[in-house]
Amino acid sequence: MPRGLRSQLPLRVLLLLLLPLPPPPLAGALELHDPAGPAEAAEEPGSGPAWPSFPFRDLRRWARAAGALSRRYWALFCCRVWPETCSLDKEAPAGAQGWSLPLVGQQYLDILTTWYCSFQDCCDHGDCRVSNNFTGLQSDLSVRLHGQHLAGELVLTTVRSYLELPRPDKALALSFHGWSGTGKNFVARLLAENLYRDGLRSDCVKVFITMMHFPHPKYVDLYKEQLTEQVRKTQEHCHQTLFIFDEAEKLHPGLLEALGPHLERQVLENHKAESPRTIFLFLSNLGGNVINEVVLGLLKAGWSREDITMEHLGSGLQAEIVASTDSGFGHSRLVKENLIDFFVPFLPLEYRHVRLCARDAFLSQELPYTEEALDEIAKMMVYVPKEEQLFSSQGCKSVSQRINYFLP
Ligand SMILES: *[C@@H]1O[C@H](CO)[C@@H](O)[C@H](O)[C@H]1NC(C)=O
Repeated sequence: MPRGLRSQLPLRVLLLLLLPLPPPPLAGALELHDPAGPAEAAEEPGSGPAWPSFPFRDLRRWARAAGALSRRYWALFCCRVWPETCSLDKEAPAGAQGWSLPLVGQQYLDILTTWYCSFQDCCDHGDCRVSNNFTGLQSDLSVRLHGQHLAGELVLTTVRSYLELPRPDKALALSFHGWSGTGKNFVARLLAENLYRDGLRSDCVKVFITMMHFPHPKYVDLYKEQLTEQVRKTQEHCHQTLFIFDEAEKLHPGLLEALGPHLERQVLENHKAESPRTIFLFLSNLGGNVINEVVLGLLKAGWSREDITMEHLGSGLQAEIVASTDSGFGHSRLVKENLIDFFVPFLPLEYRHVRLCARDAFLSQELPYTEEALDEIAKMMVYVPKEEQLFSSQGCKSVSQRINYFLP
């Protein structure tokens, strides 16, 4: 049996206490999704006392349903808290996600898991949702990420040293810059996957896409409130959180302002054993042109790509971000008051990198490929500047869809 057996009995009672809150949706949903439920419930001890027949008929039916549901709850809960003892496989081959828990039930499960994990060791180390696999991160950044030696190194060292700090008094804020398709989103995903058991789906990871989550400038006050609330809530539930802002160049100045306090140095509360760790990632195409110009210049001067260092790029990139007029990002407190810890450049990708992306796309789907097919796919991209035709204008974007043309 899993660790923490002592505390399982009271928890089970708590589960049953929590369940009865909204009877109609639970019972209704159960009948729809789980025809086996009521029959199963009949064997559940404690669910079959002699109920008076007529006025309480619904109540009895509901109690049976809740009984069956609680068993499933229990199984799901165990899988979350002690993944190594998970016994759900027979019922839900696709894992807990595949099993259709009513929405209300899912919320209870989240609340309960969070509540439990907030004071109990869920795994061998603190919160079971946090995995912090730096070996995996290092391997992914060197094997699966192509053409980004600077970003790979910088992300690994900054994130690792931040998460290994005994008591950080500040969030880590990284700003990713580069053309589209150069791997900014990919690195954000690799981070989520290696730092959290559930990757981007983890409830400790929040992704905001500007045009999707904050599309209308007139609602900026509402967005500010929602964003602050979401950051606060997530931090309350998880001692290590990751917030990803995609299309950061389009973030409204008001929202950037609202983020300021979260990136500032905090006064540590002494009584807390563990201070919260927060990572902010801002992804944007700001400064992409400067990066490309510098890289083009160096390559033409005979430098090898891998010898390009932060010294070549750092200051120019930051100056370009501050000078950008079509975006609020460079003028925001985040940049002006040095609340961003590192500006991470993503270099423009070349033909050979696009080929590697194509190879990965075949491999990830376990499909056979030929060297000719990789060349064909790489040739489908547009290369710039006109003269040198060195950099793929879309990086590796949509390469994985293009392999469809070359399937046997
Ligand atoms: C870390 O990641 C590596 C590579 O993905 C994997 O082989 C290893 O099992 C992971 N370690 C843990 C503790 O999850």
